[in-house]
Amino acid sequence: MMRYLVVNISQLLTMAGPDQPRRGKDMGSVHPILDGAVLVEDGRIAACGFKDLVLNDPRARGSRIIDAGGRVVAPGFVDSHSHPVFAAPRLSDFEARTKGKTYEQLAADGGGILSTVAKTRGATQAALTAGLQARMARFIESGTTTLEAKSGYGLDPDTELKMLRSIATAGSAGPLELVPTLLAAHAVPPEYKDRKDDYLELVCAEIIPKAASEGLARFVDVFCEAGYFTVEDAERVLAAGAKAGLKGKVHADQLTLSGGARLAAKLGAVSADHLERCEDDDIRALAASPTVATFLPGSDYFLAKPYPPARRFIDAGAAVALATDFNPGSCPCWDMRMILSIACTQMGMTPAEAMTAATVNGAHALGLGATHGALQNGKAADLVCWEASDYREIPYYFGGSGLSWVMKAGAMAFSKEGIKL
Ligand code: NIG
Ligand code: FE
Repeated sequence: MMRYLVVNISQLLTMAGPDQPRRGKDMGSVHPILDGAVLVEDGRIAACGFKDLVLNDPRARGSRIIDAGGRVVAPGFVDSHSHPVFAAPRLSDFEARTKGKTYEQLAADGGGILSTVAKTRGATQAALTAGLQARMARFIESGTTTLEAKSGYGLDPDTELKMLRSIATAGSAGPLELVPTLLAAHAVPPEYKDRKDDYLELVCAEIIPKAASEGLARFVDVFCEAGYFTVEDAERVLAAGAKAGLKGKVHADQLTLSGGARLAAKLGAVSADHLERCEDDDIRALAASPTVATFLPGSDYFLAKPYPPARRFIDAGAAVALATDFNPGSCPCWDMRMILSIACTQMGMTPAEAMTAATVNGAHALGLGATHGALQNGKAADLVCWEASDYREIPYYFGGSGLSWVMKAGAMAFSKEGIKL
């Protein structure tokens, strides 16, 4: 039995509470425990809170002590939206945008998602896995302990499954925990140009059932956007997913108001993501639904697009999460702290709201709220020791590494000072 006792914590953020996403004022009520402690047993939280209470737990005796050095301890980030499997970064798109081309123009000119698809189809599964594993190390070093990972650069049965198998292989090696999502409806592949319905038939009748029956995906996602898939298309994909036992996620209202958020709310999808163009009716619909509203402001930063109206969502009572959207085209950023910085400086979210959105609400956006995203008895021992004495330093500093160590499921996944357990 492995037992660790983390002590000398200036501020302990447990994010503890009922097993449901935080909404409204609750998003901003984070109550850091001054001089807290955490007892970890066999990969889970055994006790957590005021030091005196935790030290009184009989299991604390004889535990190996980890001294947090008077720093902040918080749950690891749960990054609920990413596209981390691809063959190569899109550097020529990036450079062309510096010269004035837009993301939409580049996609129309044969760049964009389809250029990544061509390269990903040509890559071996081993090469994709190796690339993914290199990126996973960057996520862990940035304080992310659970990451959703989408397919979507294959757009044919073999390549979509190849991507999902890479995710399964890399995820089982750890230490970063991966949650796989099938995004075969990311774009219409070139061989189905002008035959979108035939491609949707392939997605619904073949790719979704295969991915689900092989246990390779937990969610199904669709890019509901002008020029990609309509609300009707998205509903068809989500229905096929539901039939196969996969809960839905929707890329919604990013570049245009396409109705994706309204659909996600209507169907009770687990999350609706992006939401830059949402209006009050859409915000109200999401707030009244169980669907988590997930913002991906790293992509708005990188594409120089407007940010989602975060205050209106939070004030309306929506459950808001923050995620990176890490991908080669619109957000080559794995660092959740940068995303929190953008949320606080550009979108009017408070440091407490940003931490809530990146931990407990991110876990709910992956259906993992009962086990992840908070430091609470029985939940996963996924915790980060930040080089900070006040948690507001986490979104305050930007542009550099800011943590001391990362524990995933009770094991030391990264430590700047070389702590070995
Ligand atoms: O979430 N749906 C768009 N997909 C990604 C970008 C993908 C890409 O450009 O490769 C997004 O922004
Ligand atoms: Fe995305």
